[in-house]
Amino acid sequence: MNTNKLIVALDVDNAQQARELVAALRGVVGMFKIGSQLFTAAGPSLVREIISSGERIFLDLKYHDIPNTVALAGVEATRLGVSIFNLHALGGNEMMERTADAVSECAQAEGFTRPLVIAVTVLTSASESTLRDVGYHAAPGELVPRLALLAEASGMDGVVASPREVGTIRSAVKSKNFVVITPGIRPKNTDQADQKRVTTPRGAILAGADYIVVGRPILEARDPAHALRKILDEMESSAANTVTI
Ligand code: C5P
Repeated sequence: MNTNKLIVALDVDNAQQARELVAALRGVVGMFKIGSQLFTAAGPSLVREIISSGERIFLDLKYHDIPNTVALAGVEATRLGVSIFNLHALGGNEMMERTADAVSECAQAEGFTRPLVIAVTVLTSASESTLRDVGYHAAPGELVPRLALLAEASGMDGVVASPREVGTIRSAVKSKNFVVITPGIRPKNTDQADQKRVTTPRGAILAGADYIVVGRPILEARDPAHALRKILDEMESSAANTVTI
């Protein structure tokens, strides 16, 4: 089964609910994602607890601050033992470069596995008009490959982006190993909610995503384990398909 590519977002407000989800879904997902809601509610001890139970964690705190602060936050994420953490590419070259260097140094000096450092390009909830309102006069389709290239040049291991942008990212960056993580996944017949640039699990895999992140379609399902299995089946059928889009 194509489980390693699936990251489940633990977007809940307390540690107990997160533990129950991990218990129900463990063994069939590649990684669990802890974002700002759960991290603010339950803190780093829950991250340590889930990692010591044998699961991998993507710490999705989307750092965006002065270079020194983000680099030092990255060091703490490394010490927590997360497999992936992220920051906003809009924080710029120096912020990304200093973080990548600090993380490598810490991992080497203190004996930790170096986490993947991933840059958020443009949030999948942002449309062209969202960008225009904050002063960016470029469509997501133009901004995303530009930020992906900057992220790669700044030592990032990959990006988070809409599944619709995987193709332009792959053409923009130089490394074939550049990781693309895609949220904004909606299985057929599910609510799009606030996500604007969405696609199906199958569409994301066919487009060349390395990982897909799924939150509400699993968390809000009456039976999360069943919803998860349906998504995995869909991913599996696309993995068997050789067509690329
Ligand atoms: O519930 P849903 O499947 O929309 O959840 C998507 C998850 O991915 C959320 O946890 C959200 O914070 C995260 N995410 C995103 N867009 C990005 C980066 C992360 O939706 N660009």
